[in-house]
Amino acid sequence: MRYVTTSARTTERLGQEITRETAHRFKKRTQALVFALDGPLGGGKTTFTKGIFKALGVRGRSVSPTFILLRRIKLRDKGSLYHADLYRLEDPRAIQALRLKEIFAAPENIVVIEWAKHAGRTLPKKTVRVSFEHGRNERERIIIVREDK
Ligand SMILES: Nc1ncnc2c1ncn2[C@@H]1O[C@H](COP(=O)(O)OP(=O)(O)OP(=O)(O)O)[C@@H](O)[C@H]1O
Ligand SMILES: [Mg+2]
Repeated sequence: MRYVTTSARTTERLGQEITRETAHRFKKRTQALVFALDGPLGGGKTTFTKGIFKALGVRGRSVSPTFILLRRIKLRDKGSLYHADLYRLEDPRAIQALRLKEIFAAPENIVVIEWAKHAGRTLPKKTVRVSFEHGRNERERIIIVREDK
């Protein structure tokens, strides 16, 4: 699906809606629910992530974990929300240290990865890919959501 937003608020709301809909559809999943976000600086990835946090009832700010790569927030019921920002991941081998495979293996986990393209091919099947592009003006963003097979 292709969406066009013209404010940070609507990008956030889109993140919220996509999360609700996807989490519902993937209720009986066998591995983690993964959102892989890609796009330029200022594209709206962290803003969209705020919406993901809201949909999951997580309070607090979805600050980009730029200096720690991966942040874990325990969810109310079971499992955790992991928020990664791989912008600074220069050596793709460093990804192994994050133990993402273990995180992906637990169906109760939800994982949001900004700059997911830096993760190479380590993402699981059915990953929800969200790409961001700047539009015709400062406030326009083109957001494309698709699911990996
Ligand atoms: N339609 C829009 N959607 C999202 N953000 C918008 C929009 N219009 C303007 N903005 C502004 O663009 C910026 C988006 O920043 P955000 O941190 O979400 O980007 P990002 O993709 O995470 O960037 P980075 O890769 O640097 O972390 C914010 O300052 C926001 O207010
Ligand atoms: Mg960001």
